[in-house]
Amino acid sequence: MKVLMISGTYNRQSRTWLLLDEARKYCDTYDIQTEIVELCDYAITVGQKDTSHDISELVEKINQSEAVIFSTPNYQGSISGLLKVAIDHIPERGLKNKAVGLISVSGGIGNISQPLSHLRDIVSSLEGLAVATNIACYSEDFMRDEEGKNIISNDKILARLQDMVEELYRHTK
Ligand SMILES: Cc1cc2nc3c(=O)[nH]c(=O)nc-3n(C[C@H](O)[C@H](O)[C@H](O)COP(=O)(O)O)c2cc1C
Repeated sequence: MKVLMISGTYNRQSRTWLLLDEARKYCDTYDIQTEIVELCDYAITVGQKDTSHDISELVEKINQSEAVIFSTPNYQGSISGLLKVAIDHIPERGLKNKAVGLISVSGGIGNISQPLSHLRDIVSSLEGLAVATNIACYSEDFMRDEEGKNIISNDKILARLQDMVEELYRHTK
């Protein structure tokens, strides 16, 4: 089984990515193959006629995975434009029969759940199956280690990540 993890932030290896990196560790315990795609490394353009190598590569990676995790920063109460533009290149029914995990990272708690509900609708439009355990976290769930790197400081978030991976695994068995 393979899980493709898609990070929708413009900031390389930031909090949105960190959640996926942690999820990857739980996947290892189930012997699940993983790959993290950072969309900021991809050449993605607005519009349907994008035939860039990066976009066809991304769509192919999705096709070859049994499950997908989308992790997005909360931008203006929704998903990032970068993630939406990438998703717009996925063909109709492109997530059919795929289990999908959803993660969002916010600055505050004011509109913390909105990106997840938007993502859930998008996944449903593509006929994906969003699992029940999703994760909405915000700045208070993180701290910096001695080297100044972000770490997840809220154990409940780590426990939910583990539950999400377990659920993805169950749905794809
Ligand atoms: C353009 C923009 C819009 C944002 N809008 C919101 C918002 O509506 N609600 C919120 O809680 N945080 C908002 N934030 C804060 C980000 O969600 C937060 O900093 C998040 O950690 C970014 O993820 P990253 O560190 O992985 O890039 C916004 C940040 C940016 C740059």
